[in-house]
Amino acid sequence: MIFDTHTHYNDRQFDPDRDELLTGLAAAGVGRVVNISADWDSLEETIELTERYSFLYGAVGIHPDHVGELNEERLEIIRRLSRKEKILAIGEIGLDYHWMVSPKEVQQEWFIRQLNLAKEEDLPVVIHSRDAVRDTFEIMKREHACITPGVIHCFSASAEIAREYVKLGYYLGIGGVVTFKNSKALKRVVEDTPLSHLVLETDCPYLSPSPYRGKRNSSDRLSLVAEAVAGLKGCSVEEVEEVTWKNAHKLYRLPE
Ligand code: NI
Repeated sequence: MIFDTHTHYNDRQFDPDRDELLTGLAAAGVGRVVNISADWDSLEETIELTERYSFLYGAVGIHPDHVGELNEERLEIIRRLSRKEKILAIGEIGLDYHWMVSPKEVQQEWFIRQLNLAKEEDLPVVIHSRDAVRDTFEIMKREHACITPGVIHCFSASAEIAREYVKLGYYLGIGGVVTFKNSKALKRVVEDTPLSHLVLETDCPYLSPSPYRGKRNSSDRLSLVAEAVAGLKGCSVEEVEEVTWKNAHKLYRLPE
């Protein structure tokens, strides 16, 4: 079975056929899915999805593009939501210097505050990092250093940084990008990183694997990512699915 560690099924793009798609995932070999919050409204939407589908779990947290929506009171609401049974992690949180919706200092402050929340509530973390490799790594090393498990979602840095994260005990989230022809750096990361530190993710509706690049993504396409990883590791697709399934359970501290 496949474990999709990072999805956004609350996204409007799934409104026409969300239920049909989610109820069909088991038949497509997808056994577990984690819906990741990003903005304020997605917190409640994530909780609702976890209540509707037995195989779907959630993470609560505010993405760096949306930290402008945060304040003290709301952070305490996130804390309360994080204590719900099917909420497994804090995320996605991190830094995004590509869009730079909020200044660096503001992003860093809320990133650290949410890392601390994860520590206090003893929950794993789901990390978003775009065009902010150094600062994300420095903050993770200084403020978290695998006090709880964590994943660097949609990993896009170098093999050297990958090695540093693995040394600290983190998992790397691998998705559709690994199937793209021009993703040489990520392919190197996958070759270089022990399978024991990789997890599979779609980030759906985004980042559809080849040959569906640009189309709406969903968890039933994750087998294409597993195939690409198997090719790079020189092992069977079954082994990739089995090991990453186990890894995902360790990451989210779920019994298998
Ligand atoms: Ni995401």
